[in-house]
Amino acid sequence: MVKVKIPATSANLGSGFDALGLALTLYNYLEVEEYDRVEISSADAVKIPQDEQNLVYKTVKYLYDVCGRELPGLRILQTNNIPMARGLGSSSACIVGGLCAGNELMGRPLDDEALLRMAVKLEGHPDNVAPALLGGLVTAAIEEGEVYHVKQTIKDDLMFAAFIPDFELRTSKARKVIPLEISHKDAVYNLSRAALMSVSLYSGDYQNLRVACADRLHQPYRLPLIKGAKDIFEMSYEFGAYASFVSGAGPTVMSIVNTDLFDFESLCNARLGERGMDGWRLQMLSID
Ligand code: HSE
Repeated sequence: MVKVKIPATSANLGSGFDALGLALTLYNYLEVEEYDRVEISSADAVKIPQDEQNLVYKTVKYLYDVCGRELPGLRILQTNNIPMARGLGSSSACIVGGLCAGNELMGRPLDDEALLRMAVKLEGHPDNVAPALLGGLVTAAIEEGEVYHVKQTIKDDLMFAAFIPDFELRTSKARKVIPLEISHKDAVYNLSRAALMSVSLYSGDYQNLRVACADRLHQPYRLPLIKGAKDIFEMSYEFGAYASFVSGAGPTVMSIVNTDLFDFESLCNARLGERGMDGWRLQMLSID
């Protein structure tokens, strides 16, 4: 039996659409073993598919097939702390968890690079699966199936405030609202900011982050799908956040906050209460 721990992730960081992502201190856990049948259960109250449509199962099966190995059956026990369809990488956690568990069960035939290539192929973009597998802040680009990536170490003086609403937003729906083409001017707007985001997180030039997370590729089109998000953005800046952005495809809004901003959490919670925004909860996280 193997046990796997997989972090939540926040992709895009605003301007780095499908390129930047970071892992957070919120985890799903898997216990997986070969079995004489398929038996999938949840260790908590979270409802998960318990048949062969389960994404962890499908991923393990895929890996066995690719490696030419017969999967007899599988017993999976899932602990899901990452909320689903909230822009925190829950499906990536299933894919990365399934690949890591399957690889362990087979005696590690594949290295991390091969697992990453496979994870990107299954997920379609690298910005959740790469940090879920490698941890930290990861910048990635895909070229002919290869994943070119760098994991950056950033200082431990940042907190990530996840404002998580009580409604879901499917990534497929949030990707459909994005225009297929953008102007050269908007492309320059985004690439300059994505580069600034990556390097400013690394250098500690946090005063750049607010400008760096602005984008014209996806957030303007997704924000109308996220009721209350604009209020969260305004509130987070009022209470001193460096930057706020739609986490992945949304609907979670992520704010980057200095660790010395001691009252950020209580001020935000009080304001959410005053405004009757009970559907939003705030979870303070660090980078994994
Ligand atoms: N980069 C992806 C998106 C992340 O924004 O659609 C969502 O999983």
